[in-house]
Amino acid sequence: MEQNIYRSDSNVINREYINSILFEERLIGAVEPDTSCEIFGRKYTSPVMMPAFSHLKVFGEGRKSGMIEYAEAAAKSGILNWVGMVENEKFGEIAAVGADTVRIIKPYADKEKIMDQILYAKEAGAVAVGIDIDHTFGKDGRYDNVFGEGMTAQTVEDLERYIQAAGLPFILKGILSVHDAVCAQELGVSGIVVSQHSGRLPYAVPALKVLPRIVEALGEDSRMTIFVDGGIALGSDVFKCIALGAHAASVGRVIMPDLEERGVQGVMDYVEKMRQELAFTMGFTGFARVEDIDSSVLWNL
Ligand SMILES: Cc1cc2nc3c(=O)[nH]c(=O)nc-3n(C[C@H](O)[C@H](O)[C@H](O)COP(=O)(O)O)c2cc1C
Repeated sequence: MEQNIYRSDSNVINREYINSILFEERLIGAVEPDTSCEIFGRKYTSPVMMPAFSHLKVFGEGRKSGMIEYAEAAAKSGILNWVGMVENEKFGEIAAVGADTVRIIKPYADKEKIMDQILYAKEAGAVAVGIDIDHTFGKDGRYDNVFGEGMTAQTVEDLERYIQAAGLPFILKGILSVHDAVCAQELGVSGIVVSQHSGRLPYAVPALKVLPRIVEALGEDSRMTIFVDGGIALGSDVFKCIALGAHAASVGRVIMPDLEERGVQGVMDYVEKMRQELAFTMGFTGFARVEDIDSSVLWNL
């Protein structure tokens, strides 16, 4: 009831903000665009990425788990795959699919479990590892409990230890302020995910609203890779993320119906649709390459 009246739902607020950003057209001199991009030194067909999902079931008889199916879609689409909370054995199965994969580990109270999952991910060939720090607190304001596993705050010293041990690009997921982005940079992390994690905090600022301030605060010489997720559903949304300073964006819950109904092919089709929409937006706004996209064509910021 409260949510309907006051619209505290961050998903709604976030999506309204994405919708409010408009494009001007720059057609004179525009050429057919190339959507390929590079992340952590690897080439991808587009800056559309899979989400860091977890706990997906097997959606039909004779099918593999949803986690494996979307990893297969990532591999076949030539995009970066992400995985959330899984035990090592399951992560190994997902990594064996062959997609470049980022492993996001929970902020477990058991810090040795975090270390163990980092080292396992590295061994299994993960492209990067990280922690979703926005799952520290539960709705009662206490440290969260996720599927029976206790979470806790990760200190600066903890994070330094993980970064050191990883020897892989290390990512903090759930950054939604200049404060945390600058801390992350000072810690030496390689990437951040500007995200409200499915709208966990009511009235959370939309990722795209805070992103330009983060980019400015990190500075022109920043070597951090910036990812975005939350309500990203169209290629034009991905364009907005890139224009505002991100390097890539994840598409999450919106792919669920296609994943459930049509599995690998359903996800591949959705991702290709987004890639084409990105190309279409690039063509209309006069950007030939992803790395050239800037915010000068955006209105209503
Ligand atoms: C079923 C499901 C499982 C998720 N599991 C995780 C997880 O384990 N770790 C994580 O960092 N994020 C997790 N997320 C959050 C997503 O990575 C993402 O931040 C969020 O869904 C916002 O993107 P979207 O609006 O495109 O769905 C999960 C989301 C869903 C819907």
